[in-house]
Amino acid sequence: MSVTGFVFFTHASCELKLDRGKIAAILIFEGYWFKRFVSRGILPSLDDVSIHEGEPPNMLIKRAPDIKSSEVTDEQTYLNRRLFIRGAVLAGSVAATGFIYRKLNPPTAVVEERPKIAGLITPTSDESIAKGFKVSETATSFEDITNYNNFYEFSTEKRSVASEARGFITKPWTVEVGGLVNKPKTFDLDDLLKLAPPEERIYRHRCVEGWSMVIPWVGFPLNALLKQVDPLSTAKYVAFQTLLDPKRMPNQNTTVLDWPYVEGLRLDEAMHPLTILATGLYGGTLPPQDGAPIRLVVPWKYGYKGIKSIVKISLVANEPPTTWNIQVPEWYGFYSNVNPNVSQTRWSQATEHRIGEYTSRPTLLFNGYADQVGHLYQGMDLNVNY
Ligand code: MTE
Repeated sequence: MSVTGFVFFTHASCELKLDRGKIAAILIFEGYWFKRFVSRGILPSLDDVSIHEGEPPNMLIKRAPDIKSSEVTDEQTYLNRRLFIRGAVLAGSVAATGFIYRKLNPPTAVVEERPKIAGLITPTSDESIAKGFKVSETATSFEDITNYNNFYEFSTEKRSVASEARGFITKPWTVEVGGLVNKPKTFDLDDLLKLAPPEERIYRHRCVEGWSMVIPWVGFPLNALLKQVDPLSTAKYVAFQTLLDPKRMPNQNTTVLDWPYVEGLRLDEAMHPLTILATGLYGGTLPPQDGAPIRLVVPWKYGYKGIKSIVKISLVANEPPTTWNIQVPEWYGFYSNVNPNVSQTRWSQATEHRIGEYTSRPTLLFNGYADQVGHLYQGMDLNVNY
């Protein structure tokens, strides 16, 4: 660790009133990463550094240009840049301190009981397992499902989403469904809830960052809604949009993503019985941090396809833009099917860490739903259509 970094940490540690164990943990952490960055040639030049925020690997990535600035800039600018680098090292240390501090002192978990959903249909064993409606793996705890979230409209810190989203008002709520359809309609949430009986679906949930869960969702098939609006034969894709309201979703005041969050599916994927609009989990209504009042769940795709707090659904002729594909197209494709053999990201997708377990487990093709959805991709090159 650099001398400036050390001085800074001593100071920061006193400010934060950390005990000796925590300070030691920070120093070890810092030293480790500093050495790794130097040995990889990243720190002295900073010319092709990717800054990962949060737990590595994290989806939030800023990329820098390829050409070394020392090759093209004059001496004074170069020297200024060295100063900048020192500043950046210090700033990196600050970020890392914040990171480990948050790990050691996570915000208190928000565990609030939700109103129960009446008339819930629970999947009966054999047939449900065959259809993929229920996996026999242990469900992740309610506390983890509702306190380890990605919802950038509220926070980029997984463990802060629940507290930041607390109090998010979801009544009244409407979803506008239109585009290439015979019967466009704006549905009030209560209308949507009457379209089909609420079903429990116990699905695997796999994030491209490498973690996974098993979640007992409550919802209804998206196809029940799409049938209501009667798609035209020219409709080939379905586009989804999250609420855009920076007053209610404060992180939309930042430029961390292009807002609103958008997603899309091919029409046959959207019509598949495994694709649901979720309105609850663990038998209760959906907590804000998980996408209240209504979000998409497509269990064979990476979690980022599961767009939250949906206000608009459009039937369209061409592949619609999707948030993470706009962000880093070479990493996040339109299809985003869980695939242990294709690692478009810089990290492998071969294994995953199931939240609540200590060891990693192999990732399954289509997240274990190959029997149900494999036919949708027959003849397609999954390396190209990632
Ligand atoms: N939807 C919106 N609107 N905003 C988001 O930031 N994050 C996505 C997805 N849906 C996200 C979103 C990502 S990256 C993941 S992994 C899942 O939500 C996480 O869902 P969970 O928090 O319920 O586990």
